[in-house]
Amino acid sequence: MTAEKTFQSDILIEDEKISRLAPDLETDSDHQIDASGKLILPGGVDPHVHLDLPMFNTVSSDDHYTGHKAAAFGGTTTCMDFVVLESPSPDSGRGDRGQGNFQYSVDVWMKKAEKAAIDYSFHMNLTRFNEKIAKEIPSLMKMGIQTLKVFTAYNGRLRLDDGSIFKALRIARDNGMLVMAHCENGDVIETLVNEALVAGHKSSEYHALTRPGWGAVESTLRVASMAAETEASVYIVHMNMGSEVDMLNYMRERGVKVMGETCPQYLFFTIDNLRQADGAKWICSPPMRSKADNERLWEGLSENILQTVGTDHCPFYFDGTKPIMYEGEAIAIAGKELGKDDFTKIPNGLPGIQDRMPILWSTGVNTGKITKNQFVALTSTNPAKIFGLYPQKGALMEGSDADIVIWDENKKVKYGLAMSYQRTDYNLYEGWELTGYPEKVFLRGKLIVDGNEWKGKRGDGKFLKRNVGAVL
Ligand code: URP
Ligand code: ZN
Ligand code: ZN
Repeated sequence: MTAEKTFQSDILIEDEKISRLAPDLETDSDHQIDASGKLILPGGVDPHVHLDLPMFNTVSSDDHYTGHKAAAFGGTTTCMDFVVLESPSPDSGRGDRGQGNFQYSVDVWMKKAEKAAIDYSFHMNLTRFNEKIAKEIPSLMKMGIQTLKVFTAYNGRLRLDDGSIFKALRIARDNGMLVMAHCENGDVIETLVNEALVAGHKSSEYHALTRPGWGAVESTLRVASMAAETEASVYIVHMNMGSEVDMLNYMRERGVKVMGETCPQYLFFTIDNLRQADGAKWICSPPMRSKADNERLWEGLSENILQTVGTDHCPFYFDGTKPIMYEGEAIAIAGKELGKDDFTKIPNGLPGIQDRMPILWSTGVNTGKITKNQFVALTSTNPAKIFGLYPQKGALMEGSDADIVIWDENKKVKYGLAMSYQRTDYNLYEGWELTGYPEKVFLRGKLIVDGNEWKGKRGDGKFLKRNVGAVL
C-alpha cells in the first residue's frame, strides 16, 4: 500500500534496501516472511517530535532511545526533532557568547541522538537572528539540515520579529531551504497571560484562554503572506484552528508555496479537556480548540489542504514525583506537577509518537474520512517528500530503504498506557477501542518490532542528511 495505489506483490530485501518488487519472487524459505492477508506500507515518517528537550527546569521525558522505541511500536521508522539553538559557554574558546552557534548546537543534538533506535534527522530552531547567523544559515545545508523553525510566539524566549522572519525566508528561498512556522500571536499572549496572573486565574484552562485561536489564524496568514512576498516555501506546524485551514487553502489556491501539518490531538480534543481535574495532561502550545475546529481540520486532511500529520510529541509526566518502570528501571522525571498552582509553569507538550498511526487509522481510515492511500501519504510519503528524504524514505520502491510495516487491519486493541512505550505516566487515548495495528516493523530490513516484542537496539538508528525537499 503506497500513497498512490494498493497492489499485490512480494518484496525482496537485500543490503537494507528494497531490491525487487514483483509477484512470485523466489528466495530460500528460511528468510521468507508471510504477510498474506495483511497490508504492507512504508515505515511512518514523523516530521515533528521533541526528544530530550529542556523546558521549564525539566526535560521532555522521552529521549532518542525511548521515543524511537515508542515510535517503532506505532509503525514509525523515521522521525525529525528540533535542535535548540545555543552557544558554547563563554570560556570554551569558540567565542560567540550567547549569539547562537549552529555547529555547536548540532553537535549537542548529535550526542543526544547517539542512542537512536530508528532513523532520524534534525530541524534547526531559528530563535535568534543577526548578521552572523544570517551568513551562517546556508552552512546548515552542508550538515544535511534543510529546515528552519521560526516562532511568532514565546516572547523573549523563542520568538523572532516579523522583519527577521522575512529575512530568514529570503535566505531559505536562495538556498533551497524550508521555513517551518509556529503560528500564534506572541504579543497578545503576553498581554493576556499577564492579565490572567494579576486576576489570579491560574488553572489549566487559562493556558488556552490566554492563547486565542485568532492569533494562530492571523499569524498563519501573516507568515504565508511573507512566503508569497519572498517566494519562499513555508510549512505551518501543528495547525489547530479550522480557520487556519481556510487561510492555508486561500493562499494555496493563489499559488503560494505554503504547506500545513496537523497533529492527532487537534482532531479530537478541546478546551473542555483542559477544564478537567487532570487538564494539565492536555496542555501544549498551541492549545486545544473546539469541536468545530476538530471537524474542519479533518476536512483539511480529507480534502488534501493539509499535507501531513505529525505528532509534536513532547511528553511530560502528569505526576513526575512518582517513578514509572521503563525497561526494568524506576524512572521519575519532573513534569506537569511543576505547574499545579500556575498554568504558566506547566511544561508544554504531550505524548503521541506511538499513537499517531494507529489512532489515525481507526479514526480516519475506518470511518471513511481518509482513504488508505491518503493515510500513507499523510503519515509517511508526504513528510518524506517535503523534508527531502524521498524516495529513500516514505516509499515502497526498488532502491528505497527497507523500512516496512506489516499492518494488520483487522487487529483489535484496547489502547492506552498498558500498550504504550512512550516514557510517561499517561496516554491521551486511554481505553480507546482501535481496529488496525502494526504487526511487524522493519528498519532498513531489520525486524525491530515483532508483535509485542522489541527487537530494536540503541544506536541502530542513523542520522539522515536531507536534500532540498518538494513543495506539495
Ligand atoms: O507544546 C508544545 N508543542 N511543545 C513543543 C514546542 C513547540 O512549540 O512545538
Ligand atoms: Zn511549535
Ligand atoms: Zn513542536
